[in-house]
Amino acid sequence: MEKEIIKVRDKKFVTYLSSDDIQSQIARMADTINVAYEGKNPLFIGVLNGAFMFASDLLQKITIPCEITFVKMTSYEGINTSGNVRQLVGLAESIEDRHIIILEDIVDTGLTMAKAKNDLAAQNPASLEIATLLFKPDCIKEDIPLRYVGFEIPDKFVVGYGLDYDGHGRNLQDIYQLKDD
Ligand code: IMP
Ligand code: MG
Repeated sequence: MEKEIIKVRDKKFVTYLSSDDIQSQIARMADTINVAYEGKNPLFIGVLNGAFMFASDLLQKITIPCEITFVKMTSYEGINTSGNVRQLVGLAESIEDRHIIILEDIVDTGLTMAKAKNDLAAQNPASLEIATLLFKPDCIKEDIPLRYVGFEIPDKFVVGYGLDYDGHGRNLQDIYQLKDD
């Protein structure tokens, strides 16, 4: 893959995961989920804003009956986590006795997923798992099981494919890594 350097606001980023790599990995995740949730009518819960592209591309590859809804959570400010996770939009539907798969763009400290899992578990779902496109294992602070992981990546800030730097860069098809210098 040809490395491209781009600028998002005041920072430089370099190509890290190509759109093709992302799509093939999502196809593999969808295949696994299609088998594991056959006959379970899973309810996917996408975490906005970051997971909108992942949720869209994954759902198009799910071939079993399923439903999707979204919540909105926020914790990041610029390139650092604020440590303070807030839910901005909640769920309208009941998840009692449903098989839930949370769709997240990236698990960094794990604080966002710990809060989401905790809130959802209180509503008695039949099962509750997490599917995340990206995972930074070096940053994790909360011990949360991640059932489906697209890519394990190093502790470097990334942007693109739904992930933002200060609100920008979500529209990029590839994922880019912050360039050191
Ligand atoms: P956590 O709560 O620290 O696990 O952070 C998770 C949230 O922070 C994710 O849902 C992302 O929205 C955001 N985030 C974490 N790392 C990055 C990154 O490298 N780039 C863009 N957003 C990130
Ligand atoms: Mg997010």
